[in-house]
Amino acid sequence: MSAPAQTRASAFVDEQRLAGRLDAMARIGATEKGGVNRQALSADDAQAQRELVRWGEALGLKPSVDAIGNLFLRLEGTDADAAPVMSGSHLDSQPTGGKFDGVYGVLAAFEAVEAIIASGVRPRASIDIVAWMNEEGSRFAPGMMGSAVFAGARELDQVRAVTDQAGVSVAAALADVRESLHDVPERALGLRPAAFVEAHIEQGPMLEKEGLTIGVVTGIQGKRTFKVRVDGEAAHAGTSTRAERKDALLAAIAMVQALADAMHDAEDIVKFTVGRFDVKPSAPSVVASSVDFSIDLRHPDSDTLTRLGDRIAPICEAHAGVCTVQVTELSTAMSLDFPERMRAVIREAAARLDLPHRDILSTAGHDARYLRAVCPSGMIFVPSHLGLTHCEAEFTASADLAAGTRVLADVLAELAS
Ligand code: GLV
Ligand code: MN
Ligand code: MN
Repeated sequence: MSAPAQTRASAFVDEQRLAGRLDAMARIGATEKGGVNRQALSADDAQAQRELVRWGEALGLKPSVDAIGNLFLRLEGTDADAAPVMSGSHLDSQPTGGKFDGVYGVLAAFEAVEAIIASGVRPRASIDIVAWMNEEGSRFAPGMMGSAVFAGARELDQVRAVTDQAGVSVAAALADVRESLHDVPERALGLRPAAFVEAHIEQGPMLEKEGLTIGVVTGIQGKRTFKVRVDGEAAHAGTSTRAERKDALLAAIAMVQALADAMHDAEDIVKFTVGRFDVKPSAPSVVASSVDFSIDLRHPDSDTLTRLGDRIAPICEAHAGVCTVQVTELSTAMSLDFPERMRAVIREAAARLDLPHRDILSTAGHDARYLRAVCPSGMIFVPSHLGLTHCEAEFTASADLAAGTRVLADVLAELAS
């Protein structure tokens, strides 16, 4: 039997307190146009983590970090032997990110835990609030590094060796962040949670369009990411003839156009993105010697994703001309479903709170993808205004943020009881 409404954790969720913390975090790495640039393992990311630790300690939560830089705040349960229930998301952002992607899930978990404490019911299992390291994958690609290593899907040493555009390794950047959290104890990798729940903004328009407050996330569509390196030869723009040139830029453009044509579907389901395109030496009077570009390919049907992704290397090779091309797959993640039991717990909590809800597939990626492989996992969505995200205009009304947090609070209280 569930607790009566007035003693449920959700009754103690404070919309203003949550909004205040989101505002405070949005000031760390704030951009001029009202967004956030708080890329993984930057000084701003470290500051956000310190702030979270400070808030947690004020609430009596125990902080810890693991070897890949995931940050945890623990509310101790009554049963020290019980596996913890986990909830959170990420504090890092895209370079022109919004104020809600990721940080909402961390602060919703924080507010939910504060509400659980205020409800006076001490959970049996501990509850860990978590901020996963580098979900976005913008500075260090591919993303979801923290959750992938936590879940054993990627090797710690391999991830530590990844470098950013400036040549800084994850290992070096991690050491800087660790230094700024020097008083936070280390926790071992390999712990298996009892369950994981991630609250997140929808990042699509459906909930708002349908006038609904809560999305019960059914699963996450699949995604394959690639890096492509095209090598040509630098030459003088005035003296070299067309016949002599090995123009890496023209070859790369031909590849991207051919890929876009091949990925085109009348139904507009395939998601094909070349978000990074780096030309060297990038000088007006020099023929391009090399181009590095990224590919992000997504589709809800795993067979289609496999088929389309497998076409990428042959298409690039067919359009290389006199240049050479190397295609490297960075990450392969097929579509997945969250277990119905977790969806039911979320759905029932939303229904008890009289919040209009629906089942919804996540077309964006989330850390819950990796957690799902190690424990029962689920996600709660709240509306995103116009579906705008990965941009500074990202917005969700504070009443909706609080509603998702109420659902989360009751779900965590139930899972940890
Ligand atoms: C996550 O940020 C994604 O790119 O889906
Ligand atoms: Mn996110
Ligand atoms: Mn994101």
